[in-house]
Amino acid sequence: MALGRWTLLLLLPVLRYRILAVELSSQNVQPVVQEFQNVELSCVISSTKSANPRIEWKKIGAKETSYVYYDSKMQGDWAKRATLHSRTSLMISNVTRADRGVYRCEVVAPDDTNIGAEININLTVHVKPVAPKCRVPQSVPVGKSATLHCQEKEGFPEPTYTWYRNSEPLPKDSKTSPKFVNSSFTVNSKTGTLTFSEVQKGDTGRYHCIASNNVGSAQCEEHEMEVYDLNIAGIVGGVLVVLTVLLLITVGICCAYRKGIFAANKQNGNSYKTPAKPDGVNYIRTDEEGDFRHKSSFVI
Ligand SMILES: *[C@@H]1O[C@H](CO)[C@@H](O)[C@H](O)[C@H]1NC(C)=O
Ligand SMILES: *[C@@H]1O[C@H](CO)[C@@H](O)[C@H](O)[C@H]1NC(C)=O
Ligand SMILES: *[C@@H]1O[C@H](CO)[C@@H](O)[C@H](O)[C@H]1NC(C)=O
Repeated sequence: MALGRWTLLLLLPVLRYRILAVELSSQNVQPVVQEFQNVELSCVISSTKSANPRIEWKKIGAKETSYVYYDSKMQGDWAKRATLHSRTSLMISNVTRADRGVYRCEVVAPDDTNIGAEININLTVHVKPVAPKCRVPQSVPVGKSATLHCQEKEGFPEPTYTWYRNSEPLPKDSKTSPKFVNSSFTVNSKTGTLTFSEVQKGDTGRYHCIASNNVGSAQCEEHEMEVYDLNIAGIVGGVLVVLTVLLLITVGICCAYRKGIFAANKQNGNSYKTPAKPDGVNYIRTDEEGDFRHKSSFVI
């Protein structure tokens, strides 16, 4: 008994404090809305003693906090698209993606013991995807790898991707479907890539992709991908022509080089022979001139 009374005495200030404090609640602190629709950020005064509590709404940014409702009126642009609802809740019409973020409802109740209370509402705005950008190679040789890309950047939550060939949806892995048993591709629905490890003739077709999330979907235009046979005979012919040309050039260079060496040898031979000539003395006197003349004649 004594213990019970003591406990009550200890708790009394806490209870008093709770009873006299202004209290806020919300029907939803994580509202989710589609872009261009209306949303209510719910903030309800669940207890207060004050007749005229002061109400404020702020948008809490990463860098700065701005007023939405202050001094009994909507601030700035908010005047055009927001109103108070049921005294404290904030109604926003035509929400855009820029409106996502945390909003704080603050109430100051001067007659309450604990005069202030606040509650944070985290607004999520879902955005429909726009038409994705698709990249499809126009023509690919049989047996080569190929990658098709599909990407969309507006949608929120991030969209997932589905590829279509001739308006038929492609499975994530060609191996899992008897219809695509002759193909070898995988689809990454998160990144939007369609990858062929080895394209086959049957992979020729019109490709498009759809990006979708829980609020909508959008597709890119169809792109034609053609698969062609490598013409082996043509390639071998081409290689032969190139080889022949290379051979001719090599032979040509070789001959020219040999001629050059022959000429050099001849010249050297002569100059060695020069002193052995009978009229050596005369020759030595006009050595430079003679050598020059010799050289000239060989060049010609
Ligand atoms: C909603 O906002 C968007 C972009 O701010 C604007 O283009 C559109 O006309 C608005 N819709 C309505 C119904 O006000
Ligand atoms: C708001 O909600 C989103 C989605 O649920 C979450 O990713 C984000 O971290 C939340 N922000 C804050 C400040 O709680
Ligand atoms: C796959 O290729 C084989 C042999 O070329 C052919 O008989 C079969 O019809 C093809 N299957 C499909 C689904 O195209």
